[in-house]
Amino acid sequence: MSSGIERTLVLIKPDGVRRGQVGQVLGRIEAKGFTLVRMDLRTADKALLEEHYAEHVGKGFFAGLVEFMGSGPVVAAVVEGHQVISTFRVLAGATDPAKAAPGSIRGDLGRDWGTPAQQNVVHGSDSPQSAAREIALWFPSL
Ligand code: RTP
Ligand code: MG
Repeated sequence: MSSGIERTLVLIKPDGVRRGQVGQVLGRIEAKGFTLVRMDLRTADKALLEEHYAEHVGKGFFAGLVEFMGSGPVVAAVVEGHQVISTFRVLAGATDPAKAAPGSIRGDLGRDWGTPAQQNVVHGSDSPQSAAREIALWFPSL
């Protein structure tokens, strides 16, 4: 969008929900000035998760990732704001919680032990194309 207002798909993963971090994550999104457009707590089925992570089909961690993501409820949210796609990735921090900077969601709240090894609390779309694809997948009515 030429105004710079974008939408991204955020997931608070099962580890974040289980560990009671939903409020903290949503608080950071709101504190940054982004807007919640749609939000839902649900346990995603395997077909949805395989489609969501289609870019990783064939990788060694794929089956474990899909199993973990379906192991409990996630919060799925469409978040709107100025350059929110790239900015939310900055708020989230690096994929590996052990390398994510302090101050980022993954740096502060993630952990790198247990099963799976990377429990990194959140997902955020990585490009405008991914955001459009993922929002249509999780919220077909939008
Ligand atoms: P996400 O899609 O979940 O927001 O994470 P991301 O973009 O930061 O990272 P991505 O490369 O898309 O990886 C998706 C998820 O797969 C798990 N992963 N495990 N064992 C591994 O080497 C490995 N690499 C990736 C992580 O849980 C990551 O969030
Ligand atoms: Mg990704």
